[in-house]
Parts: sequence; structure tokens; C-alpha cells
Amino acid sequence: MCGIVGFVGKKQAAPVLLDGLSKLEYRGYDSAGLAVRNGEDEPVIVKAKGRLKDLAEKTDEGKAVFGGCGIGHTRWATHGEPSENNAHPHCSDDMNVVGVHNGIIENYQELKEKLQHHDYTFYSQTDTEVAIKLIDYYYKKYQVGPIDAIAKTMVRVRGSYAIAVMFKDYPGQIYVARKDSPMVIGIKDGQTYMASDVPAILKYTNQIYYIGNLEMARLDEGKVTFFNLDGDEVEKELVTIDWDAEAAEKGGYEHFMMKEIHEQPKVLEDTINSVVKKSGKSLEVDLTEIGITEEELKNVSDIVIAACGSAYHTGMVDQYVIEDLAKVPVRVELASEFRYRKPLLNPNTLVIVVSQSGETADTLAALREAKSRGNKVLAIVNVVGSSIAREADYVFQTLAGPEISVATTKAYSCQLVAGYILAIALAKAKGQLDEKKENELLTEMRSLPAKIEKILDEKERLQWFASKFSNVHDVFYIGRGIDYAICLEGSLKLKEISYIHSEAYAAGELKHGTISLIEDGTLVIGVLTQSGLFEKTVSNMVEVKSRGAYLCGVTSYGNYSLEDTADFSIYVPKTDEHFAASLAVIPLQLIGYYISVSRGLDVDKPRNLAKSVTVE
Ligand code: M6R
Repeated sequence: MCGIVGFVGKKQAAPVLLDGLSKLEYRGYDSAGLAVRNGEDEPVIVKAKGRLKDLAEKTDEGKAVFGGCGIGHTRWATHGEPSENNAHPHCSDDMNVVGVHNGIIENYQELKEKLQHHDYTFYSQTDTEVAIKLIDYYYKKYQVGPIDAIAKTMVRVRGSYAIAVMFKDYPGQIYVARKDSPMVIGIKDGQTYMASDVPAILKYTNQIYYIGNLEMARLDEGKVTFFNLDGDEVEKELVTIDWDAEAAEKGGYEHFMMKEIHEQPKVLEDTINSVVKKSGKSLEVDLTEIGITEEELKNVSDIVIAACGSAYHTGMVDQYVIEDLAKVPVRVELASEFRYRKPLLNPNTLVIVVSQSGETADTLAALREAKSRGNKVLAIVNVVGSSIAREADYVFQTLAGPEISVATTKAYSCQLVAGYILAIALAKAKGQLDEKKENELLTEMRSLPAKIEKILDEKERLQWFASKFSNVHDVFYIGRGIDYAICLEGSLKLKEISYIHSEAYAAGELKHGTISLIEDGTLVIGVLTQSGLFEKTVSNMVEVKSRGAYLCGVTSYGNYSLEDTADFSIYVPKTDEHFAASLAVIPLQLIGYYISVSRGLDVDKPRNLAKSVTVE
């Protein structure tokens, strides 16, 4: 949601902070601020409402603020409206403690009242100001050092946080702490960097420390010291990140989303090749990297998949694919529901959580709920070292690389293939698939990247179609089985970046109420990749056409009879029908993208949204 950056070193901090924040702006973007300290001087705090460019202008691209030690923040408002007053950094009245925070302090009201009894006053509506003043309170009351004051605060607050603070008495140092909110620390050439996400500091270093949950750290020039909640020093391993800085740049595309759509063939190939290996003349799934054994898969009684948004949609596809190939029952749950509804789990239920960021609060909570019940959890996750990757029993690491656009495309596609691969491995472990069929399926899966290239080659036609429909008010996506799961994703792609109302419906369900919304010119997009369901969905399309709908159909090459019904037909290459989502989703991503562009909207940073949803 919000983004934080910190820097201690010989260079000027402000330009580094602004640069880092620009890489995090996709996480939250209604205001921004920074605090920079020059030697022993008091920190200079500058804040601006609106986009980061406003802060950059106010500070002359950072040149107007001197000092080598600083912290910065981009805000996605939770407590209090977007305003300069509520923007971070926040500080105690005497500037003793200045800090930035990502996350939510749930008991901030109670803590605020406590502090008010001790004569503290508050200038903002934020929970962050309360946290900063609580650190100040403990620091002064117990006359302890920064680490002890922060530890006392951590014990007292409920919620999630990644927090970075500077203390008046400790020039040249930044103190950080985290609970359930991401934070990474990097070092290089005597300089120390901190951020809520790797892309913010990747340009400067790929040598990263992951600070653990409920841990703290002290950042000095070129040095980091980690502490546990008792204030004892703890050792951390320095990790080298493979992503290059260029992967987090637009690379000539107008938007990250378009760049990421075009990266899909490559990242799919990487993800498939990481676990699909040659064995003699055949291909087989190699589970070594994931860490689960064939024996463990054999013992799985059923599967529960918990995820949010697009990741949940991949779970919907997995449900069809796993049940069909492995004959193992699958239930798909919204992670935000799973955590509170006391789900029934068998001892041998395998819980699969799916997450690009690996930090989604609800998905992380679902993982913890499952583990607390004694169930094993397998995570399909993209961000290395994320909370979900670290806490899961088994990890299927997707290799999408950094995804910057808020609307996911390449990470979604990698999650899909991860699901197919797990389905095949499970089917084999359960004796439902022989080696010949495994090889056939994996060979077909390896042809998906080339087939996606082919769809991308024909994108101009979709641009034309999108420009015709950029002003529609409602769009319905209909399909059955896997096609319904594809519709869920197509519909979300459209609405999140174009702000057009859209719904995905199981094609047969429309006539039970929603069909009353169809009127002259309503755009209905039918997805028909499943041969056994083709005629059925065509019938449902005819039903809406006779009520005035304009019909677009997405199907495989060869199904040309669609043109008898649809006003506009889109064809994707044929593939094994279990993998159809990987191809049919591409034109739907492109339609969403082009409609957003033709409406003149901010494709990569849609309103009200954040890339990584670290609050409930
Ligand atoms: O990081 P995650 O995969 O856990 O995120 C889950 C959803 O928030 C995410 O897929 C969201 O729906 C995307 N904006 C959709 O494009």
C-alpha cells in the first residue's frame, strides 16, 4: 500500500529517496514526503499532496534538501484524508523522533488517549503520528536507547507495520522495525538502503537483507545491525537478488502493463523450465525446488486454495484442472473469507495459497490459519523472500520478475502454469496419469509461450475493437467451466483500469436475474474454449443477443461457427483445453489495456488501488 524508503551514506539522501519512492509509487499515491538530516542538524521535513512529482518539484528534485541520512514515504490514505498534514513523515513535537510507516495500527485510538493523558497533542488524523509519539514517550519515560523504546512500542501496538525512524540524539542512524508488512535492507559501497520493496533500491544494490517479523534494525553508513524483540543482536544472511534494475523500468513501452503483457512468453518459459525437466526422451515435473515429495502428494486427501483478486481467479482455473486431471476434490476460497469462517480442513488437506506479492494480508492470514490447524501449506508466490514465501511449508516460486503495473498480467499467467504443473504432478502421484500423458501435457504446456506471441502479434485488431467500446457503461463476460474462470479475470482487468462497470457470469446463470440488465448495445463478451460447452455458451449468447446485446466471442481457431452468432470474433491458437485460460486471457488483458488508454486513464496506477494489499 504505502511505500517507504531510507538511506544512510556519503551521497545526498534526498535524490536517492525520491528515486526509490518513484519505484514504489505504484503501491500508493495520494501524497508523499521525506525527512533528511545533515549531520547533527534537526531533520528537514518536506511533504506534498498529490503525486511524487509535486514533492520532487518542491525540493528541486531533492537538490534543495541537504544531508546523507533520510527517510521517505508515498502514502495511500487509510486514517485521515489525503492531505499535506496527514502525509508522512510524522514527528514528535520537539522533533525528537521523526518517522514513516507502512501498515495499520489497529489500537491507535486507545494509544492516542493514553498519550493525551500524558500531555501529548496531535496535529494529524493518522495512526502513524500516534506510533511515533508512543516511541518518543517510551524513549523519554524509561530513558532507554532507540531499540528499547521501539521494542516497548512494538509490544504495545496491534496491527501491521514497517516503520523507519530517526532520533535527534542519534545522527547518521535510521532505526527500523516490522511486523506483517514488507521491508528490505540493502548495502553497497559503504551506503545503506532500506525500502518496502526491492525495486526501490535495486538500482543501487542487489545485496539484500530480509528483516524478520517482529524484528528491528539499526542502519549506519554501510552497516546494518539486527535485533529481536528482547533487544538481542541477531545474525542475518545477505541475499543476492537476481532481478536486474532494467526489469523494473518501462523498456520503451508506454506503460508497464503493456511491457508486462509482452513479457508473458518469456516469464512463462522461465517458470515452466524451472520445474519441468527432461528425463530420457520425456518431460517430467521435478518437485525438488518446490520441496514437496511425490509421497506427500499421494497422501493429499483434498485441496483448499485461498487467494485474493486475480490470484483467486487462477485458483478457480486450478479447481477445474486439478479435479479433472488428478480426481482430487478442490475448494477455492477468498482468503479474506477463509481466515474468519473457521473452515473445515481434514488432516491431509493441502492448503495452497497464491500471491504475486507474497505480502497480501488476507492471504498471509489464511496461510497462518491453515498452519495453526496443523495443515501443510504450499505457496505459489512471485516475490522471493516475501512473508508468504518464508512461512509456507512448500514454495512454488513463479519467475515473473518484478511486476509494477497494479493490474497483474504476467504474474497471473505464471500462477496459472504453476497450477497446471501442480495438477500434473498430483495426477501422477495419484496414479491418474501415466508418463506418456504427462509428457504430452508438458510438451503442450511448453508450446504456450509461442502461442501467446502469436496472439500478441495480432493485437492491433483488439485496439480497434477497444476504441469502439471505450465509452460503454456495462460489460458482461460469460462462459462455463474454465471459461467462467477466465471471464472473472477478464472482467477484473477491464474494471480495475478502465473504471467501467463489468461483471463475470457463469453463462447459464445469467438468465436467473442478471439478464434484466441487458439492453440495446450492452457489450457481452463470451469465452468459448471448452469444446464440450461451446454450444451451451453459444445458446446463452443468443439469449442476450435477442435482448439487444452486442456480442464479442473469444474462442480457438477452427470454431468459426461462432461468427454466426457473435458480432466480433477473436481467435486464439488451439491448445489442450486444460490450458485454455493461458491463451484466452491475453486478448482480454489487451482489451482492458486499450480501453483504459483510449479513456485517457492512468493504466499503471488506477485510482483507489495499490499493488500490494498489506491491510485487511
Ligand atoms: O499480491 P497478490 O497476488 O496476493 O495480490 C492479490 C490481488 O490483490 C491482486 O491480484 C489484484 O486483484 C490485482 N490488482 C488484479 O490485477
